[in-house]
Amino acid sequence: MTARTSLRSVAESRGFDVGAAVDADLLRNDAGYWKLLRREFTTVTPENALKMGPLRPSPDTYDFGDADAVVNFGLEYDMTVRGHTLVWHNQTPEWFEEWAYTDDGIEGFLRDHIHTVAGRYRDKIDVWDVVNEAIADDGSMRETVWYDAMGEAYLDEAFGWADDVTDADLYYNDYGADGINEKSDAVYDLITGMLDRDVPIDGVGLQLHALHDEPDPGSVAENVYRFEDLGLDVQITEMDVAYPEGEVPEDHREQQAQYYRSIVEACLDTGCETLVTWGVRDGDSWVPGWFSGLTDDPLLFDGSTPKPAYHAIMDVLAEGSD
Ligand code: XIL
Repeated sequence: MTARTSLRSVAESRGFDVGAAVDADLLRNDAGYWKLLRREFTTVTPENALKMGPLRPSPDTYDFGDADAVVNFGLEYDMTVRGHTLVWHNQTPEWFEEWAYTDDGIEGFLRDHIHTVAGRYRDKIDVWDVVNEAIADDGSMRETVWYDAMGEAYLDEAFGWADDVTDADLYYNDYGADGINEKSDAVYDLITGMLDRDVPIDGVGLQLHALHDEPDPGSVAENVYRFEDLGLDVQITEMDVAYPEGEVPEDHREQQAQYYRSIVEACLDTGCETLVTWGVRDGDSWVPGWFSGLTDDPLLFDGSTPKPAYHAIMDVLAEGSD
């Protein structure tokens, strides 16, 4: 019988990882936050601290303070660490003016960045989101500074540079590609091409921000299977669940709980062994600051109080392991 003292204890006895995106300031300043985190989760990922902007105050300097705080916290409490993210079009440094570089200059800059950052955490970070969100919503390649300078090869190069310096599992991560749809088809094609070219990719991260709709869990499972059939691992990397005004079910916390439950079930069915929520407590979520007209309680905790979604995940993980 599994002791149901925490989500973490139940997850650990099931061999499942439950993670959360972590804010470095809260970790330093809010004891309630870090106690909840270390008690309830098995995995941490810095919410922002490993992105290029926060890491690079100027072209020649790095500020690893926040990233180290989150990574070291995870290691201290025997948690695994997901690194997010080496290459993205958002949260690039403010001083980074792409037109001031040649294409070769951008390539060299990105190579040095990946070597330095992934190399620093070589023995500390278990999984890296090497490239985040390379596919646009219509399934085409997203026009980013990296794509403009290097073409689609920027992905191959980025994974290769990460592989030079770390043994971490190397992931491609994206949103809106959770179930089978046009975008996940494009991700599938992109990754099939990379595998054909022997690019060292180990996994696919499905963000699963269920903010305007809830991707069908059966379709998510089917999608996980097709990536696994390529020999890749799949993780749910940024889950949160909110409802648009006017479409909020009366019992929305129960519905939210059911949805979290159904995604964990899909994970257990398919062998996707990690689910990360994009934050810990509702009050710390990015959702209200970024979207208007959505319910503002997308996560598993209301303050430090576990919500129905928390209990639903706990129940499904405990089933079968008792
Ligand atoms: C978000 C953070 O939560 C916010 O604090 C930040 O202001 C913007 O980025 N997809 C991703 C994450 O891959 O990095 C984003 O995180 C949310 C969407």
